[in-house]
Amino acid sequence: MRQLPTDFFQAPYAFYRQLRAEGSVHQIGLRTGVRAWLVVDYDAAKEVLRHPDIRKDPHSATGAQARHAAAGSSGVTATNRRLSYHLLNADPPHHSRLRKLVTPAFAPARMAALEFRVAAIADELLDRIDPAAGRVDLLEEYAFPLPITVICELLGVPVEDREPFREWSAAVVDTPMSTPEAMREATDAIVEYFDGLVAMRREHGLGDDLISHLLTVTDDGDRLSHDELISMAFLILVAGHETTVNLIGNTVLTLLADPPRYRALRDQPDAVAPLIEEVLRHNGPVNIATLRYTTAPITLGETEIPAGELVLVALGSANRDERHFADPTAFDPDRASNHIAFGYGIHYCLGAGLARMEARIAVTHLVTRFPELRLAVDDDELRWRESILIRGVQDLPVDLAGAPALP
Ligand code: HEM
Repeated sequence: MRQLPTDFFQAPYAFYRQLRAEGSVHQIGLRTGVRAWLVVDYDAAKEVLRHPDIRKDPHSATGAQARHAAAGSSGVTATNRRLSYHLLNADPPHHSRLRKLVTPAFAPARMAALEFRVAAIADELLDRIDPAAGRVDLLEEYAFPLPITVICELLGVPVEDREPFREWSAAVVDTPMSTPEAMREATDAIVEYFDGLVAMRREHGLGDDLISHLLTVTDDGDRLSHDELISMAFLILVAGHETTVNLIGNTVLTLLADPPRYRALRDQPDAVAPLIEEVLRHNGPVNIATLRYTTAPITLGETEIPAGELVLVALGSANRDERHFADPTAFDPDRASNHIAFGYGIHYCLGAGLARMEARIAVTHLVTRFPELRLAVDDDELRWRESILIRGVQDLPVDLAGAPALP
């Protein structure tokens, strides 16, 4: 069994290249003691993501056993059970039922109607950045508050409550790496918060927000239970900002490596969307997809994975598979890409349209306002988050470089 190298978070792609050269799937040990099979090539990744015998429900007997056997006694996969009844922990037919109830809330027309508001939030945040400050952390000032404000407004979480969510979600996004205590504390706090919010909605009436919508949706008389509702709200809140923050961050990082390309976007707003698509492939914000387990022996390439074992799909590796993408380390927004940065199969990201729209608006408004932006540190000084799920920097120091251009 291999261990993740100590520089994995700083430089995952070199390790992935080496693994791909040796095979499609490898047994790995995480430093928490969790053992899992890591899938690194594109075709095998897609096979796993759509395989009916590879499942997610942690409450089933096999699911509970697989997690227990892989995690030993460390308990690292334990969270508050009441938040666990969501899409990423569900298999068909239960998954199809949950997905059907929530999909209309993310319909393209609803997302298009949100564009105006996202643009206004981006402008408000940019207005608050003092150009005379010289150096700022763009993650803190812009890439983080933008998606969390959008997702809080969408859900109906009062914006003044958003601060603790950052801490809570950081503790829970990465099940195999976080400490059990930190996860337990964060998930308990989230349960208490959402219980209160739902009670308030019931008492004071419903609004035009997602929590109100989830409280009322029915499909043939079928409704979400209270715990399914708070689990769904929790998933959307965490999935809806942790990832988008880093899509914005990773895009800005890539662009600032080539300042003329960045500046040129001011006059070519149509070039932003293909650029973001290539960032999703080249350095997307989800490195390794969420936990799965086998319910029957599965053969991938030369390797047979026995039943009842954990499987992790390295999306960041699949998206650089040289058998699928020509010159995969090159950043080329003109390539026709069928990356799997948003996953594949039934768990394909529900918020892909929202994430693409937010990132496009974030970058377009940033370059209009700060065309002379520069990265304030060298590449090797950037600190990447120690998360196997999320690929993003801990902070993004930039020099504002002079007065901002008027919008
Ligand atoms: C750049 C931003 C984003 C990326 C890269 C991303 C990526 C992903 C990936 C890879 C999955 C599948 C995980 C797996 O199969 O293990 C997923 C699922 C999901 N995402 Fe996203 N996501 C992003 C933004 C969002 C946003 C903005 C929302 C909601 C507002 C969202 C909500 C969800 C939900 C609810 C699921 C579960 C779907 C299901 O199980 O049926 N995501 N996302």
